[in-house]
Amino acid sequence: MRWNVLLVAVCFLANFLLATKAQKCVVPESQFQGFDITQYARKWFEVKRIPNEAEKYFKCEFDEYSKTPQGVKVVGRAYNTSTNSYETLEGVIAATTTNTFTIKNPGEGIWSNTYTVLGTDYATYSVVTGCLDTIDKLLVWIAADGPELSPAAEQTVKKILEIYNLDWSDFESVSWTNCPEPPSNK
Ligand SMILES: *[C@@H]1O[C@H](CO)[C@@H](O)[C@H](O)[C@H]1NC(C)=O
Repeated sequence: MRWNVLLVAVCFLANFLLATKAQKCVVPESQFQGFDITQYARKWFEVKRIPNEAEKYFKCEFDEYSKTPQGVKVVGRAYNTSTNSYETLEGVIAATTTNTFTIKNPGEGIWSNTYTVLGTDYATYSVVTGCLDTIDKLLVWIAADGPELSPAAEQTVKKILEIYNLDWSDFESVSWTNCPEPPSNK
């Protein structure tokens, strides 16, 4: 009898540990609706992010979404301050929903992913979230049409973050000082 109790307790504990591990990064249900990738196609400067290992050395980070006859492509660049060179990632938008988009970067692991849009005005700000395979916590990126959010955009972004209980102070600013000239797109 006592062994049964112990077995149940062990199973319960194991389930609990598995569940908490699996639930470390959970993308919130976005209230944003009607995401339009063609309107979104522009150069987005990353201005704030939740600090994370994958972007640890990155400054001067931006993504250029552009319309092509084959669909929307995306070229991401970031200056790696550890190697003093730009990292480049080229991909395509493989799918979208009313508030998500999926990027496929051929031959690349972690950034080929589905991202959830928490808000954008397609012009001055964008708030995107997602979970990366190698990182347990929820990541959020705030992008703008230049190296800084305008005061109006910052107010709007803060209101969006509040909906999801995301704290402004959990974000780090992406440095845009002394950015070397990035390579040009093919
Ligand atoms: C940046 O450079 C460092 C040092 O070479 C390297 O370990 C790291 O992987 C690079 N960052 C990325 C994400 O490519």
